[in-house]
Amino acid sequence: MARQREFARQVRELLARRYDHPPAAFVHSFGCQQNQSDGEKLSGMLAEMGYGFTDSPSCADLVIYNTCAVRENAEDRVFGNVGALKKVKRARPGMLIGLCGCMMQQQAVAERIRASYPYVDLVFGTHALHTLPELLFRRLSGERRQFSVAPGDGEIIEGLPLRREGAIKANLPIMYGCDNYCTYCIVPYVRGRERSRNPEDVLREAREISASGYREITLLGQNVNSYGKGLSEPVDFSDLLGRVDAVEGDFWLRFMTSHPKDCTKKLIDTIASSKKVCRHIHLPVQSGSDRVLAAMNRRYTAERYLELIDYAREAIPGVTFSSDIIVGFPGETREDFEETLALVRRVRYNTLYTFLFSPRTGTKAALMDDPVPAEEKSRWFRELLDAESEIRGEIQAGMVGRTVRVLAEGEGRSGGGWLSGRTESNDIVEFTGPREAIGRFVNVKIERALNWALFGSLA
Ligand code: SAH
Ligand code: SF4
Ligand code: F3S
Repeated sequence: MARQREFARQVRELLARRYDHPPAAFVHSFGCQQNQSDGEKLSGMLAEMGYGFTDSPSCADLVIYNTCAVRENAEDRVFGNVGALKKVKRARPGMLIGLCGCMMQQQAVAERIRASYPYVDLVFGTHALHTLPELLFRRLSGERRQFSVAPGDGEIIEGLPLRREGAIKANLPIMYGCDNYCTYCIVPYVRGRERSRNPEDVLREAREISASGYREITLLGQNVNSYGKGLSEPVDFSDLLGRVDAVEGDFWLRFMTSHPKDCTKKLIDTIASSKKVCRHIHLPVQSGSDRVLAAMNRRYTAERYLELIDYAREAIPGVTFSSDIIVGFPGETREDFEETLALVRRVRYNTLYTFLFSPRTGTKAALMDDPVPAEEKSRWFRELLDAESEIRGEIQAGMVGRTVRVLAEGEGRSGGGWLSGRTESNDIVEFTGPREAIGRFVNVKIERALNWALFGSLA
């Protein structure tokens, strides 16, 4: 860190000599909230080095894309965006382009950038995030394009400057990496081994966030339920959640992602007795078929998953659930898919995040036989979406007439003075009210429900 701080100081001096105004950076993170959180660190480091910020990549002196490798379409989007910068850079040769994050931690991708995208200046993987000042200094002072993509297990770097997106909701990473090796998933390969931050560091940050007036904190990890492994102090995720819940302030507390195999009754009881934890659990099931779950290496059965759901419904009145589901895993049959549909109908999720299986080089599932044609998988996928939307419609309709607590986040999509916020279940609510409500908790009486949002007015 001391070394990077010194490079940051040198970049600052160099930029002050080169520009008569703060140069503009554009930072965009694809993918999950972990990546968004990393993006806030990138912006924090850039601010420390004297950069200002712009929303437009074509006006920026430095563009950084923080990439996601989880599915092929995520990667395609990145290549598309980088391709579009070629012309921009030709018109403005002084501009620098950096690519970082999960995609860059894959050797084949880094090689492709090296060979086919010569106008990209900085390429660094997840393990090199904190070395941005050094890479930038070298490039700015005339060295060749910089690559820092060595494989590694990853470490925990505390004390990086942060520039948070927004002033209402904050991400708070509690652990990094993943050791689960679900057979379809690239994350363990690009994020390194599971490692937990010290509870004191997490609590210090939670206090800072609360004191700065944020109204929502989301604890982040690929599998928050394995928090604490390897720490000197015996502490598990429920303990940590309880401690953050006790931090002073008026905020909602969320967490993601909770892996069903390690989700304990203790955790559910902790949520039930907490003051601030939202009565909403994101519990990705991926499939309703035990055969597919085993092939995915998820290490739970549909029955055990449903037991958890039932236990939570008992313990936490009004609890709602959301989930991730993969359609078309290699070897999945119509019968397997129907078990997924049945599970979805049984749980009645508020929200589903559905994905078509995407083979990822280096994972086990990418080598499995995958006989079902793409059109068949797409049909199943649409069936799942229809079931989701039917259930969601019923749940939303059931909200009409109720008064719910809403965190007001900003102007609504409906325009004309409507505001927008979220419920504890993370459902969007559009309502009429004064702009001063933004950033506060308000009670909204629900008058109308559409599939994408609830509508109402201040109660
Ligand atoms: N750690 C989290 C999820 C991280 S990835 C968890 O275990 O729940 C987010 C979601 O992307 C996963 O839950 C899964 O549904 C989906 N996903 C991951 N790899 C995928 C792949 N190769 N193809 C399709 N969907 C995938
Ligand atoms: Fe991927 Fe599984 Fe780890 Fe989630 S738990 S990040 S799906 S390997
Ligand atoms: Fe994507 Fe990396 Fe997150 S692969 S989903 S950005 S951990």
